[in-house]
Amino acid sequence: MNRVLVTTRVPASVLARLREACEVDYVDSSDPMPRADFLARLRGAHGVLCVLQNRLDAEAFDAGLPTLRVAANIAVGYDNIDVAAAASRGIVVTNTPDVLTDAVADFTIGLILALTRRIVEGDRLIRAGGWTGWALDFMLGTELRGRTLGIVGFGRIGQATAERARAFGMRVIATCRPPGEPGPPLPPDVACLPLDEVLAAADVVSLHVPLTPATRHLIGARELARMKPTAVLVNTARGPVVDEAALVDALTERRIAGAALDVFEREPAVHHGLFGLDHVVLAPHLGSSSVETRTAMADLAARNVIAVLRGEAPLTPIGDGH
Ligand code: GLV
Repeated sequence: MNRVLVTTRVPASVLARLREACEVDYVDSSDPMPRADFLARLRGAHGVLCVLQNRLDAEAFDAGLPTLRVAANIAVGYDNIDVAAAASRGIVVTNTPDVLTDAVADFTIGLILALTRRIVEGDRLIRAGGWTGWALDFMLGTELRGRTLGIVGFGRIGQATAERARAFGMRVIATCRPPGEPGPPLPPDVACLPLDEVLAAADVVSLHVPLTPATRHLIGARELARMKPTAVLVNTARGPVVDEAALVDALTERRIAGAALDVFEREPAVHHGLFGLDHVVLAPHLGSSSVETRTAMADLAARNVIAVLRGEAPLTPIGDGH
């Protein structure tokens, strides 16, 4: 019987689905799996359900050979996986697109509102005993209607965020897709602009690119300097897309008006410079973290593994438009 390593706690329904189809080596814990344990338990496995903390590089794939046939990441991002190393060893890699699009787009809008309407700042103020009562000019935020949302990375999540932003009366601009990259055309009411122009024109810049060598530190000191001093940055993509030290400098010197961050360069570590800044909202990588979506993600990963081990095509393979 095929053996599948599951490196994290998953919903009971997902575990049951896997157990019907294979022998499951189950790590019943949400703690990151130590590397040595991960490598040891990959030996003899035919499939693995993994998460962002599991680095799947040549060493890990070699540990799983000759049995390993499929690695299913329970995430849409797959910067933890060396896709070329998998391909050269004939190992199928899958991710979990689509099922988390709405959850992440909802969360992005939540962060934008939390920041621009100062919701988290207000919560901190009350808890610190600092609220002295209603006043006409107290803790004023800014509204979204008529403002411009700049989407950097107009894929599934970027588009879903744009759709929600339009309902708030925002104008949407977005970075153009690189020439030759497949994907649907931009909607007619979304202007497609180069990154520098998006940064210069947006009141809210929201990042939705995957982390790749080309997007690491895509937003650094130079790019932050392009933003309006009244604009805010929102990151629900991957921490290393932003040069965190440069962002802390820009925020500290009030060169931009604020930031809402769900992801960080060295998670779970967070740059200490962010802690004292009132115009910053921090979230612990919660973009897709609803019961419905996390269950759907784990289930999709399980179905991918089962399909490949049955000799069928995976549902959402990486490197196939996903
Ligand atoms: C989470 O960060 C994901 O990529 O799904």
